[in-house]
Amino acid sequence: MNLPNNIVFCQNISLDLRTFFAEHQCSKIAVLVDNNTKSLCYPLVQSAIPEHVLIEINSGEEQKNLNTCQQIWNELTVNAFDRKSLFVNIGGGVIGDMGGFCAATYKRGIDFINIPTTLLAQVDASIGGKLGIDFQNFKNHLGVFQNPLKVFLDSSFFSTLDAAELRSGYAEIIKHCLIQDEEKFNEIEQISYDKLDFSELTKHSVDLKNKVVLEDPTEKGLRKILNFGHTIGHAIESFYLDKPAKKLLHGEAVGIGMICESFLSTKKLELEELSLDRITDYLLKIYNCNPIPETDIEEIIQLTRQDKKNEGDKIKSSLLNHIGNCGFNIEIDHQDITASIEYFNHKSNHYTK
Ligand SMILES: NC(=O)c1ccc[n+]([C@@H]2O[C@H](COP(=O)([O-])OP(=O)(O)OC[C@H]3O[C@@H](n4cnc5c(N)ncnc54)[C@H](O)[C@@H]3O)[C@@H](O)[C@H]2O)c1
Ligand SMILES: [Zn+2]
Repeated sequence: MNLPNNIVFCQNISLDLRTFFAEHQCSKIAVLVDNNTKSLCYPLVQSAIPEHVLIEINSGEEQKNLNTCQQIWNELTVNAFDRKSLFVNIGGGVIGDMGGFCAATYKRGIDFINIPTTLLAQVDASIGGKLGIDFQNFKNHLGVFQNPLKVFLDSSFFSTLDAAELRSGYAEIIKHCLIQDEEKFNEIEQISYDKLDFSELTKHSVDLKNKVVLEDPTEKGLRKILNFGHTIGHAIESFYLDKPAKKLLHGEAVGIGMICESFLSTKKLELEELSLDRITDYLLKIYNCNPIPETDIEEIIQLTRQDKKNEGDKIKSSLLNHIGNCGFNIEIDHQDITASIEYFNHKSNHYTK
């Protein structure tokens, strides 16, 4: 597998794309967009991409499935794409994960490049080579590891992004600071959310994720630290997925997950109470977190058992040794999770903005 040393931080993405296409020979080009990125992002780069077939799908996680892949593979097939063709993903994590997966499997793999357009996709999804789709009710159940030829990062895409989506993506930046960079957490903690420089933060976050992924590309060990906040966060996200009134964005759920897992870090590892207070206060300030009703907790805990990091019956999580340092493969049980959600509930009940 290629190593992920393929990231371009763009000042002017059109210019960088033109340079790339001038140097890169390919037989045909396909561009994948969803209905939002077609109207809001594609026009910014359209003229810099040589003649291409545009494939449009509907936006949303519900589209990240085999049916949509069939539609994409079909477009490639009817347009006689060969193994020297190139696939271009323009969109958020759904487009990147699914478009990459389709490219990596078409005729045993054609090259692809990513133009991620959400904050989440820039700081997380498009880095590290994980590609895939959902299957039945399981998220990212089918997939492969394969890196794009290039990832073009440009913060100008954020200007059209929904404010809640931007805030949701920011959770991964907070996560990267908590697991790897204490100084950066101290810094962002002092800045009001409205004053954050997402372009600079994206660079910082991508560097951190990239280093971790380079050391452990296929998640045998260290890469698991990137799952901090996600054992409980994913379970909460999944539980509320089909409850429209309470549905949470990924980052909102991971925000709660990071509070719960920081609490567990004080019980299972050495995270200090003072650090737990700081993390909790910061996340409650950024995210509008409502307490989790007691009656939902049991089912949420059952959902943590689906986590891909688990081994057999054991729930394994990544927890903080201290701010800026994260451990992994730490076993937690039913009671631990209940206690952590109760801690979160207590704090969110008493938090006044
Ligand atoms: N591969 C990985 O390592 C990895 C890591 C994290 C998340 N993911 C995956 O990423 C997906 C979530 O990504 P996401 O949050 O980007 O979701 P998304 O792709 O659904 O995008 C969110 C919404 O924003 C719209 N959008 C995208 N760019 C826009 C722009 N610039 N302006 C306006 N609207 C825009 C999209 O059309 C969509 O409606 C999930 O499927 C998750 O599993 C993958
Ligand atoms: Zn995440």
